[in-house]
Amino acid sequence: MTTTAQPTGPLRHFLQFRDFTRDEIDYVLGRARLIKDRFKRYEPHHTLHDRTLAMVFEKASTRTRVSFEAGMYQMGGSVINLTAGDSQLGRSEPIEDTARVVSRMVDLVMIRTFEQTRLERFASHSRVPVINGLTNEYHPCQILADIFTFLEHRGPIQGRTVAWVGDANNMAYTWLQAAEMLDFTVHVSCPAGYTLDADRIQGIDARHLKVFDRPEDACRGAHLVTTDVWTSMGYEDENEARRKAFADWCVDAKMMALADKEALFMHCLPAHRGEEVTADVIDGAQSVVWDEAENRLHVQKALMEFLVLGRQG
Ligand code: CP
Ligand code: NVA
Repeated sequence: MTTTAQPTGPLRHFLQFRDFTRDEIDYVLGRARLIKDRFKRYEPHHTLHDRTLAMVFEKASTRTRVSFEAGMYQMGGSVINLTAGDSQLGRSEPIEDTARVVSRMVDLVMIRTFEQTRLERFASHSRVPVINGLTNEYHPCQILADIFTFLEHRGPIQGRTVAWVGDANNMAYTWLQAAEMLDFTVHVSCPAGYTLDADRIQGIDARHLKVFDRPEDACRGAHLVTTDVWTSMGYEDENEARRKAFADWCVDAKMMALADKEALFMHCLPAHRGEEVTADVIDGAQSVVWDEAENRLHVQKALMEFLVLGRQG
């Protein structure tokens, strides 16, 4: 028996950052604050008692797996973990059929997969909310955690500047969705051949996106400098070419010195010291990467609660 109210509205998913309104993002971030504070005081927060989360991993994970699994247990629920290798997904069962079956048995699904369209196909055949745990195109749970981390350390991100140094990948495009919604600026610098896709940035105005050839110029005056691996999961065949192309897109102390003197450094992790970031930066005083990783837990608990139960309190 569940003791909490059911959501009355239509089925909601979190497949991209912009699936939520600004007001909903603000609600989830505020709820994450409360949930984190209670967690730090060892106070139970069992709002998802008796609920079940299914996780589907078609790519590797440490943070996403642990944060969703621990988060669901901490809220009184339980978790089922599926991978391509140990489910019928790996033996060509259509994703639509998997969605129809799994969503009859659980309350919520989190998927990490390749194409966004694969995630969308699952969601469109699901009876329960679906969360994007990373696709080739987006990583919205990570950006939720990153914005929460910025808020904790520096206050609202509105009007601030984020420098993105590196690949035009799932993280970069999700930062851009967040910038448009929450009204901040992203300075993007990517190596030639790995730049933002013109079709995907069409319509983003200069208040939210400025593109720079040189990573140093992107970092100038930024309130947050962030980067990611040179080669994302699924692109390993390009590893050697990327190593050469990205050599100058390594966030180092000189780049951090060009940023605002209060600038933070973030990285979604896993990181490769000596490639996209130097050890002195990621392990230095401006880095908040461990808070950033921990905050995946708190924001996703708020996200799961919102998707299953709607607004609380
Ligand atoms: N940042 C992140 O999503 O990490 P994992 O790949 O370990 O889940
Ligand atoms: N851009 C990286 C993020 C890993 C969390 C990838 O997709 O592999």
